[in-house]
Amino acid sequence: MGPRPVPVAGVMRAAAAALAGAGIDSAAVEARLICAHVLGVDRSRLMLADGLDEAAIAEVDRIVAARAGRGVPLQYLLGTAPSGRLELSVGPGVFIPRPETELLVEWILARLPAPTGGVGLGPVVVDLCAGSGTIALEIAHARPDARVHAVELHEAALDWLRRNAAARADAGDTPIEIHHGDATDPHLLPRLRGRVAAVVSNPPYIPLTDDLPAEVLGHEPATALFGGTDGLVVVVPLVDLAASLLAPGGHLAVEHDDTTGAEVAAVVGRRGGFGTVEQHTDLAGRPRFVTATRHDGADDDPTAQKGITR
Ligand SMILES: C[S@@+](CC[C@H](N)C(=O)[O-])C[C@H]1O[C@@H](n2cnc3c(N)ncnc32)[C@H](O)[C@@H]1O
Repeated sequence: MGPRPVPVAGVMRAAAAALAGAGIDSAAVEARLICAHVLGVDRSRLMLADGLDEAAIAEVDRIVAARAGRGVPLQYLLGTAPSGRLELSVGPGVFIPRPETELLVEWILARLPAPTGGVGLGPVVVDLCAGSGTIALEIAHARPDARVHAVELHEAALDWLRRNAAARADAGDTPIEIHHGDATDPHLLPRLRGRVAAVVSNPPYIPLTDDLPAEVLGHEPATALFGGTDGLVVVVPLVDLAASLLAPGGHLAVEHDDTTGAEVAAVVGRRGGFGTVEQHTDLAGRPRFVTATRHDGADDDPTAQKGITR
């Protein structure tokens, strides 16, 4: 007979102490999540588990060491992150979904035309800079009738996007369409021009001058974070692309850095073709996303302005 399992409470206490010692704020919550992950149980049932054997304790120690010693984001270590009503796979190479992005999803969902038909017969939605797929997959989950397209440029992120999209389709959600492409390319998605009900984006937007927490700088891909020195390098051409994709009456929602709300609203306003440009805050009251509605008008076609042929 092998050694008796060690009670969960003791392992969790030791893990929490190590995490707190490394300055991690929510050490007790993280210790609970780590133990639940290693035991493969829901955290609400953790205290009902028999305890942890030697191999399980070694795995808890490995995760705690990576978290406390190297500051690896917990979501990368557990391999998943909450995303609204979903749980998505994440790991090195992909941006970890943030709760504030939920606000964009809710805003767009509230404005999509009501469902009228079956699967795939509803509004066309485009998620530019899709990363793990959090926005695209949440919309596809909430609106099975929508035809959701997700655009991502970087291979590492695309792998996670494909994996999450396949998992959600297996779980019964309407499959999304994935495009390997550049959201700053004015020729992107030519088949969808003028047909899209909503363009949503959480692009790389952090101004390069900002001070960032070491955890973010050291682990998440720079290509997901930074938007040039003003934070607008991707946003400006992306707004042009959105204008050409949206149908009259279609909606745009773009997340931004909390220092660039006025600039992003000005970019959208200057672009022409959009009405009702609005700035929104997140739950902490910080400026977080800009929305606008495409109005009709042949003279505000961006491809016409730039002399680009369709
Ligand atoms: C801030 S992350 C957001 C990911 C996801 N939308 C979310 O909310 O979690 C930005 C994403 O844009 C991708 N990206 C960066 N530049 C891009 C571009 N020019 N075209 C398309 N995707 C791009 C990055 O690889 C990254 O996955």
